[in-house]
Amino acid sequence: MSYRVELAVLSEQKQFCRFGLTLHNLSDKDLTDWRLQFIVDRFIQPDSFTHGDIKQVGSFCTLSPDIDSLPANQHYYCEFSINTAPLRFYTDGLKDALLISNNGAEQHPVTLTPIVLASPYREHSQLPEVEANSLALIPKPNRIEQFEGHFKLTASSQITLQASLAEKAATWLQLELHHLYDFTAQTIGQSDIIYRNNPTLDEGEYQLTIGASGIRLEAGSRSGFVHATASLIQLIQSDDENNLTAPYVKIVDQPRFKYRGMMLDCARHFHSVDMVKRLINQLAYYKFNTFHWHLTDDEGWRLEIKAFPELTAIGGYRGTGHAIEPQYSHLAATYGGYYSQDEIKEVIAYAQDRGINVIPEIDIPGHCRAAIKSLPELLCEPEDKSQYRSIQHYNDNVLSPALPGTYHFLDKVLEEVAELFPSDWVHIGADEVPDGVWLESPACQALMKKEGYQSTKELQGHLLRYAEKKLRSLGKRMVGWEEAQHGNKVSKDTIIYSWLSEEAALNCAKQGFDVILQPGQSTYLDMTQDYAPEEPGVDWAAVIPLESAYRYEPLAEVPDADPIRKRILGIQCALWSEIITHQSRMDYMVFPRLTAMAEACWTEKSERDWEDYLSRLKSHLDLLDRQQIEYRQPWK
Ligand code: ACM
Repeated sequence: MSYRVELAVLSEQKQFCRFGLTLHNLSDKDLTDWRLQFIVDRFIQPDSFTHGDIKQVGSFCTLSPDIDSLPANQHYYCEFSINTAPLRFYTDGLKDALLISNNGAEQHPVTLTPIVLASPYREHSQLPEVEANSLALIPKPNRIEQFEGHFKLTASSQITLQASLAEKAATWLQLELHHLYDFTAQTIGQSDIIYRNNPTLDEGEYQLTIGASGIRLEAGSRSGFVHATASLIQLIQSDDENNLTAPYVKIVDQPRFKYRGMMLDCARHFHSVDMVKRLINQLAYYKFNTFHWHLTDDEGWRLEIKAFPELTAIGGYRGTGHAIEPQYSHLAATYGGYYSQDEIKEVIAYAQDRGINVIPEIDIPGHCRAAIKSLPELLCEPEDKSQYRSIQHYNDNVLSPALPGTYHFLDKVLEEVAELFPSDWVHIGADEVPDGVWLESPACQALMKKEGYQSTKELQGHLLRYAEKKLRSLGKRMVGWEEAQHGNKVSKDTIIYSWLSEEAALNCAKQGFDVILQPGQSTYLDMTQDYAPEEPGVDWAAVIPLESAYRYEPLAEVPDADPIRKRILGIQCALWSEIITHQSRMDYMVFPRLTAMAEACWTEKSERDWEDYLSRLKSHLDLLDRQQIEYRQPWK
């Protein structure tokens, strides 16, 4: 390519780094009338910029140089500062760059070289060598006995249903056996696999018995049959003659936590219906029961709302010339997508068949830039002169609690969401509302005066209280991130998802809120997995090697007998998608850590053991290979 950009860390301190950026013109022509666009996810101090000007909206930067022409074979150089902890990974460098002419008519692609780091991590962690376990089960069942021998499935094996609750689970088994092994069960044949009702088993519980007479799956709930099926799928192996066999076992199993979830961000990058279904299917393999679908954010609105087609027509796409600038990738093209309501229904049904509840998240009042840019007449107050910068560097991404349009928007969106999603819970986000918001808004100030509010946090509470009531009128329970209880306005019916720290979860639990734990330091799958510069991911919460993910124990310091533990409904891991541009990156960040998280969700503390998990993971990798999951090799 004719142009190349290099970024180097020149110096670094605890919360301050200085950078040098060089643009090389490798072509045989002078470059005139140019600007450089690039993507970086930290905020460049505008006053620190040398040799030109920088404008930044979110991760999207436009550099206007102080020279008109860059002659052939010459370079341009500038420096700037970012208030950040030292950078350790190549992912911290520029994500994309593009040269454009001042009128935007001409574009030139640019080659990026890896960021020159001042202090990259050098350590690669090593996992202990372990023997592969003959039972490749993850999460580990809470009670399992193994016996000598294997049961062999044959061409005449039939799946027999003696429980209507097992219908979907049995269909799922057939689909998976077909997909993994090209195996088709007969409709008339030998009753080798029997699904049987066992009303003594509670929600999610199951028993799986494999012996000389065949395979028996017992449960008293749909979810129990799905979990029994997941265990069976993991136990089935293909022998040297391509016969399917399963070891003789007796499993009596039930979940440790009632709620076992994963959140997927589909706003920062859009993941197709097929990608979402693929992940949901994987969640079912590991006995998760909740898919938390982060559908809206500053960088994209992904859910069709019939009352406001603008939300997806405008808010679903970004790029030069669009209402939303390019973010995180794809500078040169329009990027985006959304889910139609029919597609949403399809995904919900697919998840239900696999025992998974889909909780939609509509993030308010922060993280709303895509909605605000789509519906400015409704959601903007032109007189609002408040100065703020959100964590992802926006100054225009918060809904106003004082505009009638906000409530009209919320009503319509929540009505359609409530109609579309069978989930009893609707997540309303509520995270990361920046300081400074609403302070210079005449409408907000008038509302504060009228209600006697002392702090703008109470305005957030005002809005969330409205959302809570609206959802209740629609038969739904509101759930939100830990900031939802700021402003002391939401009721104890609201379930709190803690993410910043476990302390917040403990505080909320002590106040009487039910909590779901999603601490970034242990459960964020966009965090890097090792201390090596080429490891993809971010590290603002932590580096999370497989062992840290495995060893996560919620509120470990709270004694087992403490009644506060009853408030912990469960655990959730999360994949934020700033760097998740394609399937293989998703696979790499999710696997194998998802399997470690599954065990934290499912298996009793007394049954968990790191090296035992590794021995099962070692044999389990075959199943990941069979599904063409591009996981991170645990033993590199
Ligand atoms: C979050 O990570 N902002 C919930």
